Amino acid sequence: MDPTIDDPLLAWRSEFPIVERTNYQISNSLGAMPRRARARLTEYADSWEEQGVRAWGDRWWNLQFEFAAEIEKILGVAPRTVSMHQNVAMASQAILSCFDFAAPRNRIVYSELNFPSVMYLYEQQVRHGAEIVRVPSDDGITIDTQRMVDAIDERTLLVPISHVLFRSGYVQDVRAIVAKARRVGAFVVLDVFQSIGALPLTLADQGVHAVVGGALKYLCGGPGNCFLYVHEDERRSLRPGFTGWAAHKDPFAFSTAGQDFRDDGGRFLNGTPNVPALFAGIEGVRIVAEIGPTAIRQKSLRMTKKMIERCDRHGFTLRSPRPAEQRGNHVSVDVPHGYEVCQALNARDVVCDYRPGAGIRFSPHFYTRDAEAVAAVDAVAEIIESGAHRPWIGQPKKPG
Ligand SMILES: Cc1ncc(COP(=O)(O)O)c(C=O)c1O
Repeated sequence: MDPTIDDPLLAWRSEFPIVERTNYQISNSLGAMPRRARARLTEYADSWEEQGVRAWGDRWWNLQFEFAAEIEKILGVAPRTVSMHQNVAMASQAILSCFDFAAPRNRIVYSELNFPSVMYLYEQQVRHGAEIVRVPSDDGITIDTQRMVDAIDERTLLVPISHVLFRSGYVQDVRAIVAKARRVGAFVVLDVFQSIGALPLTLADQGVHAVVGGALKYLCGGPGNCFLYVHEDERRSLRPGFTGWAAHKDPFAFSTAGQDFRDDGGRFLNGTPNVPALFAGIEGVRIVAEIGPTAIRQKSLRMTKKMIERCDRHGFTLRSPRPAEQRGNHVSVDVPHGYEVCQALNARDVVCDYRPGAGIRFSPHFYTRDAEAVAAVDAVAEIIESGAHRPWIGQPKKPG
């Protein structure tokens, strides 16, 4: 690390074993596992083995609400407004199923740079009468805010958008999009998967109707811990079609008299919670909450700036925005044979991924040393120069 930088966040490194063993540049996909998660998983196994079904009453059932409370704090929203779900597709379905698509207000407006899982789900609503409006991007990196705003009108029912785009890391102007949606009576579902834990979120004052996201990435909360937030003002009038006994006011009555939705965020639940995931994930979320998004963001902007400078020095094509206010938490670099270079990087323990249309994605986090962020970009140059990404060069041709 640069000895001139006093970086108190590095004190957390020892809590995340993989960052001590690798150059871990992939928190945009899966945040590092905190050491404490193992203890929680052991606690889960012990409770299952020793208490059996009685563990539900002791801890298991309420853990989803404990976890949701942590997410509420990070989102800066009111208590009891978040429900936990297996993944974003299911969290999105929970909110989507509250709407019907009777014309004239039947349009779903989103950018073509949304995450595919979310797009596939919304596109399927055509079978229920929805009309899809896909807003194109000129450069595959950014989305013109005015173009998004103009696409939203009185025919718009839903606007599912990403806060930070998964390919380029571009930060969308949520405030402008929500303001237009509110003006014409459309409902925004904001996907914060690529921002929560890395960027400060100011949802309450932006008037966002609903939010989906997950704890896998910058919250270091492992797979299976995704969530849905719905603003209190909207919640009361929404009745999800995708529902189950867990959304009932008195779930353990197992009433056959029909659904009687809970009044709080739990009305968007469906079935049995994902207990092992909740145990595994809660410690990471607590750590990230303790550090706080402002310190994380400050450090991230410093590191991504250095990475971009390094990309320029090597002459790489950048597939992420340059201005700080448009930059999320990852840097996408497009080089020839990007997939193979990415494989070679991983073989050297520079852990990163490759996405078509983006290139190699690097995402430093609070536990990253500045020197590692720079070294990751330099490793791309070394691999290209040495040809290490092209093992087929110089190999004898296969017979036949
Ligand atoms: C913006 C965004 N939304 C959603 C997802 C994941 O969706 P799901 O939880 O349905 O797998 C990702 C995952 O990489 C993402 O980056």
